[in-house]
Amino acid sequence: MIRRKGNIFRLETPSTTLVIKADTAEYLYYGKKLASGGGFEALYGSPRKLFSQYGGTDYSESSVLVENTDGGMSTAFAFSKCKIWAEKPETEGLPSSYGEGKTLELKYTDAAAKVSFFLYYTVFEDSDVIAVSSKLYNGAKKELYIRRLASVQLDLFGKYSFVTFEGDWARERQKVVRSVGRGIFYNDSKKGISSHERNPFVMAEGEDGVYAVNLVYSGNHKELMECCESGRVRLLSGINDFMFRWKLSPGETFTAPEAVICYAPTEDEASLRMHAFVSEHIVRGKWKKKERPVLVNNWEGTYFGFDRERILKIAAAAKEAGAELFVLDDGWFGKRDDDTSSLGDWYDNEVKTGGGLASLADAVRAMGLDFGIWVEPEMISEDSDLYRAHPNFAMKVPGREPTRMRNQLCLNLADEKVQNYVVRVISDVIARSGASYVKWDYNRAVTDPFGKNVPQGEYFHRYILGYYRIASKITKKFPFVLFEGCAGGGGRFDLGSLCYFQQYWTSDDTDARERLKIQSGTSYGYPQTAMGAHVSACPNHQTGDGNPLETRFNVACGGTLGYEMDLSVLSDEEKRTVARQIAFYKEHRKLLQFGDFYRLGEAFGENIAGFMTVSKDKNTAIAVVCASKQVIGGELPYVRFKGLNPSAVYEVTAREQSNYRSAPSFTAGGDVLMGGIPLRDIYEDTEKTQYGGRLYSRLYILKKCKA
Ligand code: DGJ
Repeated sequence: MIRRKGNIFRLETPSTTLVIKADTAEYLYYGKKLASGGGFEALYGSPRKLFSQYGGTDYSESSVLVENTDGGMSTAFAFSKCKIWAEKPETEGLPSSYGEGKTLELKYTDAAAKVSFFLYYTVFEDSDVIAVSSKLYNGAKKELYIRRLASVQLDLFGKYSFVTFEGDWARERQKVVRSVGRGIFYNDSKKGISSHERNPFVMAEGEDGVYAVNLVYSGNHKELMECCESGRVRLLSGINDFMFRWKLSPGETFTAPEAVICYAPTEDEASLRMHAFVSEHIVRGKWKKKERPVLVNNWEGTYFGFDRERILKIAAAAKEAGAELFVLDDGWFGKRDDDTSSLGDWYDNEVKTGGGLASLADAVRAMGLDFGIWVEPEMISEDSDLYRAHPNFAMKVPGREPTRMRNQLCLNLADEKVQNYVVRVISDVIARSGASYVKWDYNRAVTDPFGKNVPQGEYFHRYILGYYRIASKITKKFPFVLFEGCAGGGGRFDLGSLCYFQQYWTSDDTDARERLKIQSGTSYGYPQTAMGAHVSACPNHQTGDGNPLETRFNVACGGTLGYEMDLSVLSDEEKRTVARQIAFYKEHRKLLQFGDFYRLGEAFGENIAGFMTVSKDKNTAIAVVCASKQVIGGELPYVRFKGLNPSAVYEVTAREQSNYRSAPSFTAGGDVLMGGIPLRDIYEDTEKTQYGGRLYSRLYILKKCKA
């Protein structure tokens, strides 16, 4: 809801209030919902601004910075007008949130330069968040150059920690908390993708609660926190201004990517709101609310070394175990026997597919499984027919040796010809295989950013617009296909990508211990349906550590379940265990995938960690609890459950696991469970001497007892 009194706008979600003074571009209040009707005069003249510009006395980081039409870099955007839209206007040319949401439009104009700056605040009541975007319009007769246009500026007062989600390949989104006194801190990517290293989702955490910000963007981004002498804390989020210089010709508009902000009293609440926003207003299409299939992917089972017979053997074992979808990963096309060739040659490798992709897909379907296919549309191998025919499709600087990563180059997606090629050939792969699922991979970052006739300062953004155009065209052509994004694991796990791909491969690290951290970090900003989570072979291929099959499954229940191994080589007992796991997952899938998701314990540092999902009516829940190591003679481990009805009594039953002798069951009040219960038998894992570096884990099913 948006209420207006003169120049004061009050934006309300069910539990938050944002008060804006439009004429002076001030934030008067943002936080817990106000009970009083108003009385904001005492706050007038606040240094908390909706945006900030260079040229006046605000020497803090600016949110808008332009080489102006008058040749200077000063701007003096002053209030011009405002409007309330009943519906959210389109964010031109970029992926953005959708759905019902009243929107406040504010316009500020630099009269001397004839340039206008717009801000949009959309209230999404159902998820308790506000989407914000900004744009610049050049009304002058001369061009200007945008050097920075943040999507959102959030000014706060007080002491805050800057919470970011950082890492690397196979170690994505580890929570980092920086207690910030004075100074400027930033979190960014210059890799052309949102990156494994620093996700665009950030939080400012203070005594008053949590302010969470995310960006609907997949390219170079920057989130900045500046704490200045006055105690004002400025949070900016938007396209990275690194190498950014965008020419805005007379009559043109530049739209910055959308950001989403939310205030919540706790981290858990902030996550629930972000999850609701992503599920309701970012993820699209038929799969938005549909239960996601249990899949088996051959990558870690075979890598490039497969033929038709091997694939069908794995698929048969997948069917036998109860899986619903078989996914053929890298290596089915061109002459691809390793990672040195063939990207771009999206024709069938007759030998490995044994008669073509369509026939292999038909054979899988004949077993009663759906068929899914892996592609890496945005890349090119130098050893490929595509490169030999169109070397200029690759991203490289003329006359220079390009930097190679994984023996491949990026395609120059800033070129529409290249985009059209990709749309055509990838659409053909999907059509001829009849795939109902596509894993869309991206296995290196941008280097040598260059495109003929594309100014350097515009390259990175034009490149990402190219990615969006391709993704949009292909996903629209195949509305019934479930798309899972991937970038060498989770290197482009962001809201921009999730506007096209309903789920994302969270990380190439499938080790249960590492996954618990990665999934926990990811869950701060993203719902569990977005997180691909697979059970893989033991010892784990990334860490070399071992974990019981049941532990690997429990941890994978924190996302959309798959098996990333050759199921055909498991022992009969293991096969029975997998079949029981899949049956269990399917029975509880709705709750696991769409329940309210809470982190348990602390995956970053403490011994006990896990997660739980709770049904909306709070009558059922599933909790996974893990202990990192057995502390001999130490305190009894315990866990505090979350999100339950405090006055209800629950029957708690442990899932029968092959590595525990019994499956205890007990009843307890919701408040008792949330107060903390001891995990008496967590160390009774019968396979504990078998694996080094193992994680102890149990899964509990909670059901409200009838009154
Ligand atoms: C990286 C992905 O994250 C893996 O799952 C796999 O698909 C490989 N690429 C294939 O090259």
